[in-house]
Amino acid sequence: MDRAAVDALVTAATAVRANAYAPASRFQVGAAVRAVDGRVFVGCNVENASYGLTVCAERNAVAAAVAAGARDLVAVAVVTDLDEPARPCGACRQVLAEFGLGMQVVMVGRGGVRRQAMLRDLLPDPFTFGDVERGRQ
Ligand code: THU
Repeated sequence: MDRAAVDALVTAATAVRANAYAPASRFQVGAAVRAVDGRVFVGCNVENASYGLTVCAERNAVAAAVAAGARDLVAVAVVTDLDEPARPCGACRQVLAEFGLGMQVVMVGRGGVRRQAMLRDLLPDPFTFGDVERGRQ
């Protein structure tokens, strides 16, 4: 992905972060995913008084993409305000892998500091529907 596309993804994730609903943690996260056709979908974390119902920014961005018919995702940007950019949590890695194990992960922290990784390096051996098929009775 070229520099302009990465910048656009980071800009989208940074903007949506302002809408994060995080009264419990006060930790705001913005995410944006890029589909293979170039479309960008965003999500923020949405917490709940029943804490376990909280949904991370990344998974909300994936849901927006899938709802729009985009299932082939090539990159994700995750924006927080940490000095060391936050990595996607394990649950989000698994959900991201469903729609693009080869995706590029751009993590952005305070002041725009960036770190990049490939999802396959963050989640080398995901559970897949192939496993489900093999285990079907
Ligand atoms: N959170 C995300 O949105 N993405 C992650 O990858 C890690 C955690 C959110 C969930 C919760 O609202 C807050 O950050 C603190 O865990």
